[in-house]
Amino acid sequence: MNSFTKFADAFQRRTPELPSDTPQTATVIDGRAIAEEITSGITSEVRRMKNSIGNVPGLAVIMVGQGRDSQTYVRKKLGACEEAGIQSKISTLPDNCTEDQVLNALSCFHEDPSIHGILVQLPLPQHLDEGKILNSVQLEKDVDGFHPINMGNLAMWGREPLFLPCTPKGCIELLIRSGVEISGKKAVVIGRSNIVGLPTSLLLQRHHAIVSVVHAFTRNPEQITREADIVVAAAGVPNLVRGSWLKPGAVVLDVGTNPVKDPSCEYGHRLIGDVCYEEASRVASAITPVPGGVGPVTVAMLLLNTLESAKRAYNFT
Ligand SMILES: NC(=O)c1ccc[n+]([C@@H]2O[C@H](COP(=O)([O-])OP(=O)(O)OC[C@H]3O[C@@H](n4cnc5c(N)ncnc54)[C@H](OP(=O)(O)O)[C@@H]3O)[C@@H](O)[C@H]2O)c1
Repeated sequence: MNSFTKFADAFQRRTPELPSDTPQTATVIDGRAIAEEITSGITSEVRRMKNSIGNVPGLAVIMVGQGRDSQTYVRKKLGACEEAGIQSKISTLPDNCTEDQVLNALSCFHEDPSIHGILVQLPLPQHLDEGKILNSVQLEKDVDGFHPINMGNLAMWGREPLFLPCTPKGCIELLIRSGVEISGKKAVVIGRSNIVGLPTSLLLQRHHAIVSVVHAFTRNPEQITREADIVVAAAGVPNLVRGSWLKPGAVVLDVGTNPVKDPSCEYGHRLIGDVCYEEASRVASAITPVPGGVGPVTVAMLLLNTLESAKRAYNFT
């Protein structure tokens, strides 16, 4: 079974568990509107920086291969930079490039004083050592926050990472800007990856939530999730979280972006989340849609990290 068929099957299997006339109770957390608000603040700051010191923040992207998803994500990030007045550079390497070529591209951007943030678009082809490459990103330019020192500092009390990973930072921003109290609340993070689940659980703890993590080996995910006031779903499994998994009134952030077959769409597929939206929106008090929820705010956080890095580099307050 290929991945599309798997996703399509999971999508078809979804059967509403609540009567279809149960009203939608959840407020939709509009990630696009929140991202625009954040980006507009960043744009003003970039303008202020340019007018005061004649410099703007710079972001460099290293992209290996021509994966369609990676190309789309990179295009979105670079487009957002342009809109905000952030300078961007891209190094595109072929699928079969060597690790040394990637490390050389990194070195060039490390030495470039106009670059304040570097991101290596993931996933990398299997023959490249992702850990080694991410470890080589200069700490001061690690705007994705994936360097082990940044991640380690995030995990330790009394330490401050230079950068927070963009999706987890975006999740917290969505909660705060939607007026959701985090401190003392029970949160469940579904997924424990280095880029989303793990740093999100750490960040929620920093905000004093009581955090449980659900992963592929969790025996009773529904029961654990049903206790949560805040649910962050980042498993990459379409419609995993059903309405019955949620406590009434829970706030749900759906990080998942999963393609399902849809011949009526431009590329023959569309994106759905890890949460069965139709069911969840009848149980939750607030929910992010897919697309238009966590994704745009993640991009806004990348711009924000790049701006903060440039401010640090130029000692600009
Ligand atoms: N919106 C955005 O900005 C954004 C950004 C990044 C990622 N994403 C999306 O978020 C999703 C997750 O991304 P990722 O990079 O974290 O994925 P990942 O590296 O594949 O990690 C998935 C995590 O989910 C867990 N998991 C898998 N199946 C599960 C199940 N049935 N029940 C409970 N847990 C399960 C895995 O557990 P184990 O550790 O036990 O294997 C793993 O920890 C994907 O759909 C991705 O496209 C969105």
